[in-house]
Amino acid sequence: MSEALTTQAELRLAKRMARLGTETAFEVLARARALEAQGKDIVHLEIGEPDFDTPGNIVATGVDALRQGWTHYTPSAGLPELREAIAEEVSRTRGVKCSADEVIVVPGGKPTVFFSFMAVVEDGDEVIYPNPGFPIYESMISFLGAKPVPIQLREEKDFRLDPNELADLITDRTRLIVLNSPHNPTGSMLEPQDVRDIATAIGDREIMVLSDEIYSRLLFEGEHFSPMSIEGLRDRTIMLDGFSKTYAMTGWRLGYGVMNRELAKYFSRLMTNVNSCTASFTQVAGIEALRGDQSSVEQMCAEFKRRRDRFVERINQIDGFRCRVPKGAFYTFPSIRETGWTSRKMADALLEEAGVACLAGTAFGQCGEGFLRFSIANSLENLDKALDRIAAWAKKNL
Ligand SMILES: Cc1ncc(COP(=O)(O)O)c(C=O)c1O
Repeated sequence: MSEALTTQAELRLAKRMARLGTETAFEVLARARALEAQGKDIVHLEIGEPDFDTPGNIVATGVDALRQGWTHYTPSAGLPELREAIAEEVSRTRGVKCSADEVIVVPGGKPTVFFSFMAVVEDGDEVIYPNPGFPIYESMISFLGAKPVPIQLREEKDFRLDPNELADLITDRTRLIVLNSPHNPTGSMLEPQDVRDIATAIGDREIMVLSDEIYSRLLFEGEHFSPMSIEGLRDRTIMLDGFSKTYAMTGWRLGYGVMNRELAKYFSRLMTNVNSCTASFTQVAGIEALRGDQSSVEQMCAEFKRRRDRFVERINQIDGFRCRVPKGAFYTFPSIRETGWTSRKMADALLEEAGVACLAGTAFGQCGEGFLRFSIANSLENLDKALDRIAAWAKKNL
């Protein structure tokens, strides 16, 4: 009976599901795992998460919280003490006065993307977003019936968004602009003057900015500068940040959005509808993450910098590869344009023939053609192993 049901029933999906994209990293990971199951040795440079464990003080606080009964709902917008701790952190790092009622705690980085579009973008509105860029932006814009307007990030501009090009893309229908610095997948960083020029390009139009700052603490040089810090943009900026990358807490699902307090009320209502609240013991651990010892963040960042230096130096020695030096996050984005290969074909060949899993630049949009993304969230030893394999493969095939 149940068999008949599963074979005969036709799945009728809502039309919008055809517009829902995905993140290729998870698909490549599954393919790499399948090859491993056949006995192949794969170096994993596809997935974007720190290879470090969550720092011990944070884990201990989370475990204690469970034992102490932090197993119930919290307010939808988050625990008041965590919202307070986040407001203090934002005030300190972005040089603005931020208060707890402007902070909404959510399960990870992604909900702030989704909620921002849900809350302020109508059908047919235009949303400008970086390409190459985090694929979830385009997926969510299309899913919600808005019009995705990509802005190309160019290698010759160090993958920094060009404010003049942005000005040309803004129309009467533009409702929201997505910025992401430090940037996934290129590791580029907007300079303070870029952000000021972007603010000038926006002017006083009714355009919101979603500023994805999830990598703001993972910097190798320079200083992070948020559009929040610009007086005239403060109220039109929704800032996304979280604990996944900074504190190696991807599996805890903890992040936050910061926005004007009127909008925050609606984010809170979205939380009530979608998640009820973020897990309570996770939030207690988040307070420790922000207020406790920060040395693990510094150590992790220093280690990423060592790996970045090694990877960039060595990949640039391989014929056909040319790599800019990323300034933040934990990705490298070398060009393979000189080889004449497409990104997809080379990423597939590296996985199947060289045992190195990476992502095609096109996993981040059309403008990623001619590039590959390697995550450097793996040990120096494994990075060297991957580079040896890529060099040997390139010698044979390019
Ligand atoms: C730019 C960017 N924003 C947001 C996220 C989402 O983070 P989370 O896994 O915490 O939802 C990621 C994760 O890779 C990211 O790269």
